[in-house]
Amino acid sequence: MAFKELVFSGVQPTGNLHLGNYLGAIKRFVELQDRYDCIYCVVDLHAITVWQDPAELPRAIREVTAAFIACGIDPRKHIVFNQSQVAEHAELAWIFNCVARLGWLNRMTQFKEKAGKDRENASVGLYAYPTLMASDILVYRATHVPVGEDQKQHLELSRDIAQKFNNDFAASIRAHGFGDTFFPLPEPLITGEATRVMSLRDGAKKMSKSDSSDQSRINLTDDADAIALKIRRAKTDPHPLPSEEKGLEGRPEADNLVGIYAALAGTSRASVLAQYGNAQFSTFKTALVDLAVSKLGPIGAEMKRLVADPLSIDAVLADGAGRAQKVAHETMKAVKDIVGFVRA
Ligand code: TYM
Repeated sequence: MAFKELVFSGVQPTGNLHLGNYLGAIKRFVELQDRYDCIYCVVDLHAITVWQDPAELPRAIREVTAAFIACGIDPRKHIVFNQSQVAEHAELAWIFNCVARLGWLNRMTQFKEKAGKDRENASVGLYAYPTLMASDILVYRATHVPVGEDQKQHLELSRDIAQKFNNDFAASIRAHGFGDTFFPLPEPLITGEATRVMSLRDGAKKMSKSDSSDQSRINLTDDADAIALKIRRAKTDPHPLPSEEKGLEGRPEADNLVGIYAALAGTSRASVLAQYGNAQFSTFKTALVDLAVSKLGPIGAEMKRLVADPLSIDAVLADGAGRAQKVAHETMKAVKDIVGFVRA
């Protein structure tokens, strides 16, 4: 069966949004709007898989929403909402908990990283996180999912869940007139020059919201001075930049900064090196500061303006949730019939 093309993706409201979230995900969300219908979700149910202060969470949810809009997502043409307002996400996740296998979840590297050594003390939600993620996507029967490299394994799991549901319930899916397959196998869109932005302090570590050092990341709300300072202090090596991409091999910090430049400028590593090959880092960093400030400055300013009006943000979320829920509700009705539940 051919599925209608639809983009879905989500961002957690957990702390500061950073350059990795922007280049790996949100900037791509913006670009996809011209070609697809898109649903972009602030995944607050995912956020609480680790402790979130209830006094802080609303601010974080509104801040991610503001970032979506400030980066250029149009919430009227597309759908922007927060996950907890559409109960069908959690409802389908339960069904997927019964489809997914323990062995599949045991392989998830993100759980291992986040749970760390104290695994017995991790929440059940953190473990089941990927089945909720599959349900986020599949409750809209979305076909394309733009994400950074770190979400690839979760996307593969979503495909496995969709496939197993389609297989397990094949006869019922046909009997209810849905053809051969009910769920599409969602395709990850992991492209561009910055699918894995690394820490500015350590080229072997991913740039992350949870890194204890604020110097390791550029936050979307950082001002020009902070951006400049962080880039100037970013770890490098003692050699000038190579003039070809091959010369970045084994130089993770150089590769990261060149990748960031390329993604911000909307060009390739090769063309950045064609311009800055043989340059010293001091020269290149000055150019990177100018570029980063010119691209991120207006986003940060617009985010600040938007979060100052929480009622307008809440109205965007409520409107988006209403439209999302209509689609999700139809999917859940069909899923209930397929699984064999009795419903009114
Ligand atoms: P989250 O909130 O950790 O990150 C949001 C998006 O940013 C990308 N990202 C990065 N990209 C490049 N370099 C980095 N250093 C970097 N850090 C983060 C992430 O890959 C992601 O695309 N599980 C998801 C949220 C989610 C979701 C979904 C995504 C929930 N349901 C359904 C897609 C579809 C997460 O924790 O993203």
